[in-house]
Amino acid sequence: MGIVFSTCRVSKTIKSRLEFDDELFVQDVEPLKYYLPNFIGDTDLMVIFHFLGRYLFQSNFNAPIEERLSSEQCKILDVCCGAGTWLLDMASAYGSSKFFGIDLCTVFPTAIKPDNVQFVQGDVLTGLPFDDNTFDYVHQGHMLDVYTMDQWHFIITEIIRVCKPGGYIEFIEPELATNTGPILSKFYDALVKLSETRNVNIRMYDNLIRILNSTPSVQNVESKKEVISLGSGCCGYEYLEIHDEFFLSVPMPEILSKFMGISERDYLELFKKVKNEIRSGISPDSLLKLHSRYSKITAKYFDTH
Ligand SMILES: C[S@@+](CC[C@H](N)C(=O)[O-])C[C@H]1O[C@@H](n2cnc3c(N)ncnc32)[C@H](O)[C@@H]1O
Repeated sequence: MGIVFSTCRVSKTIKSRLEFDDELFVQDVEPLKYYLPNFIGDTDLMVIFHFLGRYLFQSNFNAPIEERLSSEQCKILDVCCGAGTWLLDMASAYGSSKFFGIDLCTVFPTAIKPDNVQFVQGDVLTGLPFDDNTFDYVHQGHMLDVYTMDQWHFIITEIIRVCKPGGYIEFIEPELATNTGPILSKFYDALVKLSETRNVNIRMYDNLIRILNSTPSVQNVESKKEVISLGSGCCGYEYLEIHDEFFLSVPMPEILSKFMGISERDYLELFKKVKNEIRSGISPDSLLKLHSRYSKITAKYFDTH
């Protein structure tokens, strides 16, 4: 699918050059080591994404931690928590557990939040600021478009370090659809190229499973996938709206049109044809239905020492 985006309100303290235009912040990427443009609107999309994922999987997690969460005082970490929607949802359901979120940008609530939630501002690529074996469960979502392969290796090592032996780690990631028609393919290809300029592979979902499977201290690596058809079926209509929003919101037309070698105006015209292309595949018996996978990978950490 085409929804791989970043959420971040860039603070002036960590941002050297900031273009400010009403509610829109465009970040100068270098000082943050974080590259996609960021918007307040992205936060809204991520919130919608959270509820979409919860509905699709009928749960906020796949790891077998329900009993533990309900009966014990667990510690839970959400890495790169963004607006903290997942954490806030979890914290209200499991009041006896403590929830921690870390993100580079303070898009998470700082004043009004439940007592059992703490947010930390920090760059996870300098290491997670928590002791070894602290958390019963570590969660991370929607980061396929953010980390390079080296950074994935680093962050997985860090996540395992802060996870208690016997604890669980879980990733939730949407994947780009592969059965796109010729027009939408042009947009997806541009997105892939854009990521490659940052040495990021947004199609690395299967690699993530391989990395976990080859990590000696994790076991029971499980991947659960739900399929969304853009524009039809369960959550398909909502998904299509997010999809459109992503490709049509500033500054995606400006950025992606360059990778497609066309003007912004032609980009917008071409995207109108994407809608028809998708719509042509929406009839229930059509083979053209555009499938996106939305997946969770869960693994159990055990101490090898
Ligand atoms: C696509 S959003 C995902 C947010 C959240 N995980 C969710 O699923 O809604 C990516 C998030 O990663 C954060 N981020 C990116 N690089 C980071 C870093 N090096 N350290 C901490 N946070 C980072 C961004 O600020 C943003 O909130």
